[in-house]
Order: sequence, then structure tokens, then C-alpha cells
Amino acid sequence: MCGIVGYVGGRPALGIVLEGLRRLEYRGYDSAGVAVVAADELLTEKRAGKLAILEKALAEGDIAGIAEGTSGIGHTRWATHGGPTDRNAHPHLARDSRVAVIHNGIIENFAKLRAQLEADGVEFTSETDTECVAHLLAREMVTDGAQGLADAMRRVCRLLEGAFTLLAVSADAPGAVVGARRNSPLVVGRGVGENFLASDVSAFIEHTREAVELGQDQVVLITADGIEITDFDGEPATGRDFHIDWDASAAEKGGYDYFMLKEIAEQPQALADTLLGRLKENGDIVLDEVRLSDQDLRDVDKIFIVACGTSYHSGMAAKYAIEHWTRIPCEVELASEFRYRDPVLDRSTLVVAISQSGETMDTLMALRHAKDQKARVLAICNTNGSTIPRESDAVLYTHAGPEIAVASTKAFLTQLVACYLVGLHLAQVRGIKYADEVAAVVEQLQRMPGKVREVLETMEPVRELARSLADAKSVLFIGRHVGYPVALEGALKLKELAYMHAEGFAAGELKHGPIALIDEGCPVVCVVPSPAGRGVLHDKIVSNIQEVRARGARTIVIAEEGDTAVEPYADHLVRVPRTPTLLAPLVTTVPLQVLACEIAATRGHDVDQPRNLAKSVTVE
Ligand code: M6R
Repeated sequence: MCGIVGYVGGRPALGIVLEGLRRLEYRGYDSAGVAVVAADELLTEKRAGKLAILEKALAEGDIAGIAEGTSGIGHTRWATHGGPTDRNAHPHLARDSRVAVIHNGIIENFAKLRAQLEADGVEFTSETDTECVAHLLAREMVTDGAQGLADAMRRVCRLLEGAFTLLAVSADAPGAVVGARRNSPLVVGRGVGENFLASDVSAFIEHTREAVELGQDQVVLITADGIEITDFDGEPATGRDFHIDWDASAAEKGGYDYFMLKEIAEQPQALADTLLGRLKENGDIVLDEVRLSDQDLRDVDKIFIVACGTSYHSGMAAKYAIEHWTRIPCEVELASEFRYRDPVLDRSTLVVAISQSGETMDTLMALRHAKDQKARVLAICNTNGSTIPRESDAVLYTHAGPEIAVASTKAFLTQLVACYLVGLHLAQVRGIKYADEVAAVVEQLQRMPGKVREVLETMEPVRELARSLADAKSVLFIGRHVGYPVALEGALKLKELAYMHAEGFAAGELKHGPIALIDEGCPVVCVVPSPAGRGVLHDKIVSNIQEVRARGARTIVIAEEGDTAVEPYADHLVRVPRTPTLLAPLVTTVPLQVLACEIAATRGHDVDQPRNLAKSVTVE
């Protein structure tokens, strides 16, 4: 959730750290702070509010020497323990302000640790769990210098329970930043005469594209010329080296007002990139990392898809294709609920964990539960080097590029495609589909970037419509079959961006209660399946549209080109290209993304950084 940056090298650290924080601000933005070591002094500033407020404070404060120090750390916060105030902002200090710590995650035993420290006479100045780490580090730092700080960090980590990425600097260890991680991400950026630490690579992509992903329970010491990794006991350890295959411009707005607009526009390319090279000449589908044999996949008799939020909706939409193609029962579950209901899992269960960030704690915990029960786990993920793919038996990366806006868009579409590929791969290894049948679906998939591009080119009327809906009290979304998860996704987008009441329903459920919500003028977005698919499905939703309209609803109908049956019942008609039924969410979701984005902008909200949210949710 929080964004973390560290730098050591020959250049002034402050600017590099602030720039890194700017790129990570999507992770959390309710407070920000920095600590820089300069001339054996630790200089810090922190503020509640967005990064701009910290930058203003730094400019006004003009702290002597802070702009010259060549090692430092920085943090953007998404509050867990203690509200978003100046005092609770990171860094937290100890040892007479000679040690500074920043943290992402939750220290679960912090209350006990705090009580012990208070009993020893330590005075706390914040309500955070992090501050106890600062005091522990000060206590454990028995020798000065970089190794003294790293030793202290190892000793402290052995006392901590929960999830954490920690970075520390000390005026008594100049030229060094120490980091540690458990259940929370930390990557090293390998520079020349300088090194970086960050929660994700976008923080240092401008400076280096060579990275090292730290493993679980590791401590890293970076200096200008070295990267030293150990486990929590001090035994030498190694991380995983990787090259970042996108550059700094991918993490910029590129002329758009919001990252979300840019990411919506990037969807055709993201789909094409995710599909690239997936079909071998012999017709086999290619995943990325497969530590499962074909026999393991042949043995699968049940699939669970686990995910959260938008990723969960992509799983819901993909279930229809996966079951249809593989004939294996497929359940889709909210990751946050999965392990608590004691699901029946065994070696022949395949759990598909979908996550854009690869760090969502609910999904990670569901995955670990599945592994404990001996199930096989396949990850669909957009973030190379993140925890979920690393802990999975097989991985299919969505090549969507960095998704910065909190509201997920291109990740959703690429996750769908990835799920389709997994379904096809399973159908293939199990002998349910011939290579030519698989190739035919892949060919249909390859036409999807073009169809999404067509949708994007016709969005002006949707934007206009959105502006007219900005004052609506509530917006309802209905759909059937694959249109149902699309309706849920449309409602989620509107809730998170426009802070409006919005709900998605299976259209057939309306008459069992929700239809009572409809009153005069209530906007209802209706996601209509292709009439060329299962006609009965199409006819049923046309009836549902008539039902809501008869009760005063203002209907906004998303329907395929050539579907004339819906015309009499649509107050607003949004056309999408003809698409095979199972793949339809790839086109029907796009107008709903545009709608939510435009309504939010019209209402004056920060589209990229909606209130109370963070991009990567690394707490349960
Ligand atoms: O990184 P993940 O895909 O695991 O994230 C899951 C959800 O937190 C995420 O999709 C969230 O619902 C989005 N903000 C929705 O736009």
C-alpha cells in the first residue's frame, strides 16, 4: 500500500527520492515524508496530505544541507495504524533522531512490543505500529556504521510478526540504506556508483532497468558500490535478478490529463502484447513460467479462481469460457473470503490467483492456504518480481505495462485474455480441444485489440452522456451471463471514482428485490449479450430492459452493432463491435470505464487517486 524509496550514491538523494515517491504516490497518498543523511546528520520532513504538501514544506523549510545529502529514504502512506496526521507520517525517528525508519505493512505484535518499550521508558510520539521498529532499531544498533545498522535490522526483524517492508537510515551509518522484507514487496535497483530500493520498480526506472527482487525474510544493505543480501539470521542470500522491459515514459501521463485515460487508451496495445507469442507453431499455448507437468494439469478436476476487486470480476467473466472450453467445474471466490470457509482442496485442484500488482495480501493469503492444502497454483499477474507469481507453480504475465491509476482498466482486459489462454491451455493438454480449435479462438482473440480500438474511437457520445449523469443519485448496472460481471465492474468503477451509489445486478435477479430501487429517471446501464450467441439470453435481457423502463428508468444500453431489437427500449444506445459471446466483456467493459472516468472528472474528483483507496492493497 505505502510507497517506499531509498537511494545511495554520488548524487543528491532528495530529488531522486521525491521523484521516486511521485511515481509511487498511487500506492498511498495520505501523507509523505523523507529522511536524508547529510554530513553525519539526519534531516527529515514529513507531512499529512499528498506529496505536493511535503514538497511545499521542504521548499519553505529550506532545511540546511538536506538538498546535498547523498543517501536517503522516502515514504508515501496509506494509513493503517493511526490517522493521516503529520505525527503519524513516516519516517519515524529514534536514537535522538539519528535513526529513521519507513514501513509498508502491518506489525501484528506491535502492541506487545510497544508495551515492552514503554515499560523500558521509551516515549512514543505517534499512534503507528512503525514507531516501535524505530525504537527497537535504535536499541539494537550496538555498533555504528553500515554493518551495525544491518545487524540491528536483522535482530529487529526476528522480533516482528506480520507483514513489512522496512527501510532505515542512520546518521551513524552514512552512505548506507538498509531494507528488509516479509510478505511485502521490496526491489533493489542496480545502478553504477549508486543503488536504489523501492516498493516497485517504477520508482527508479528512470535511473536503471536492472533490478533484484528480494526474497522472503531477507535483509539488504545498499551502499553506492554494493548490494549485500542476507536472511534474518545474517546468512548470505540472493535475490532474483531481472531486467525491466518497459521504460520511464511508460510510467508518465504522456499528454493525458489522467493516468486512467492513458491506460484506457493503451488497452488495444496491452491486449496485443499479452497475446504476443502465445501460440506456438504446433498450436500449443505458451504460459510464462510453468513448474507443473502436463500430467498435473490433466489431473485437475476443479478450478478455483481467487482474486479481489476488478481482478475478481475478470475471473467471474472468464469462468464462462473456462468451464465451456475445459468442462472442468470452475468457482470464482473473493480471495478475502476463500480461506475462512475451509474450501475443499487437494492435489487435483487448480487455484488461479489473479492480481495486477501481485502483492494483494488477501490474494496472497488465499494462495498460501491453497498451497498448504496441496492444491496447484497458477498466477495471472502484471508485475514481474512480485510475490504472488513467485509463490505460484505456474505464471502467465499480462503484459499491460505499468498501471498507475488506482482504478484498474487495462489490467482487467489483459487478465481476461490471460484467463482465456489458461482455459485454452487446459483444454489442449487434456485433449478436449484440437490444435486447430485452439488456434481459431486465438485468432478471434487476436482481433480483439482492433475491436477495442474501434470502441475507443466512438466514445465521445459516452463522455457527453456521462456529463449529463454527473448529478444522478444512483446508477444501476444490469447484465446476464458474461454481462453480469461486466455490470459489477461498471458499478465498481463508478463507486471508486465518482463516489456515487452504484450497483451491479444479474438482470434476472431484479425482480427478486432490486427493481424496487428504480424510480423516475434512475439511470440503468444494460449490458446486452450478442443476439448471435444464445438467443434466449438476449431475449431475456431485452425483457429486463423493458421492465426497468416501464418503471421510469433512463436506459443506457450497451449492445452489439446490428442488434436492432434493443433500439425501441434504449434511451441511449452505445454500440460495440460484433464479438463472440464469451469474449464480449473485452468490448462491453470499455464504455463503462469511460463513463465512470468522465463522471468522476465532471464531479471534480481526482480520477487517479480516489479518496480512501490505494493501488496495491498489502494488508488483509
Ligand atoms: O493488484 P490486484 O489486481 O490484486 O488488486 C485487486 C483490487 O484491489 C483492485 O482490482 C481494485 O479493486 C481496483 N482499484 C479496482 O479498480
